[in-house]
Amino acid sequence: MQTIGLLGGTGTLGKGLCVHLADSFEVMVGSRSKDKAVAIVEEILNEKSERGQELKERLIPAENSEMVSKVNTIVATVPFEVAVETVRSLASSFRGNQIFISAAAFLEKKDKEFQAGSGRSISEQIQSLLPETVQVAAAFQTVPAAFLYKNSIIEGDVLVATNKKTTYDACAQLIERIKNLRPLYVGSLEVARDIEGLTSILLNVAIKNHLKNPTFKIIDETHPR
Ligand SMILES: NC(=O)c1ccc[n+]([C@@H]2O[C@H](COP(=O)([O-])OP(=O)(O)OC[C@H]3O[C@@H](n4cnc5c(N)ncnc54)[C@H](OP(=O)(O)O)[C@@H]3O)[C@@H](O)[C@H]2O)c1
Repeated sequence: MQTIGLLGGTGTLGKGLCVHLADSFEVMVGSRSKDKAVAIVEEILNEKSERGQELKERLIPAENSEMVSKVNTIVATVPFEVAVETVRSLASSFRGNQIFISAAAFLEKKDKEFQAGSGRSISEQIQSLLPETVQVAAAFQTVPAAFLYKNSIIEGDVLVATNKKTTYDACAQLIERIKNLRPLYVGSLEVARDIEGLTSILLNVAIKNHLKNPTFKIIDETHPR
């Protein structure tokens, strides 16, 4: 069975992803502290006790560096402010043809409103730090994490930006394992900035319209949903 690693998997998005990904994969829940990873896995198993022994067997607590050196596919779920530095500090642990999916969204807050961050996306900054063989993708930015953790089904589209179609295909296979999430290819890493910017729209929409956990779905007439 394939193992997916979550970098900073102990937070809101990490917990949400790990309970869904564990339906199909082993999941290494990474943390700066092994003790914290063990405690969070314990917490998840208590909160999801109906999932029983299978979930217990599939969630593996680990230190971030151990996880990065062991798995082929990593999803980074650390706050955007520390994502680039976190990858820099682990750069020597990456190897071979790994896939690195960044969920981070570069945001700025001005006058009580969120805006897309100016300059290169977090995903592009991360790609520039990693060996060329490691392919970076941006994905999951618009998936509401708390809702994902609470619910067994979440509907929405996951926009993916990455430089190679083969990397997109690998990301899509992972995303499709989460029931009712649809992966959609947006383009190269240069458009990751646009995907990251969508998070600011969701945050503003939620605040100004009193919405809880909004997300995006792309509607088209050939595939009505
Ligand atoms: N929350 C959402 O709804 C949502 C939705 C889509 C995308 N995202 C994106 O997903 C990412 C994670 O969001 P989140 O809400 O899950 O974050 P979070 O819960 O605040 O943090 C996630 C984890 O990051 C690690 N971390 C915190 N500070 C760190 C530091 N200074 N250096 C290294 N690691 C640190 C912590 O793990 P350890 O202490 O165990 O190391 C923490 O459990 C963000 O980039 C966000 O843009 C969030």
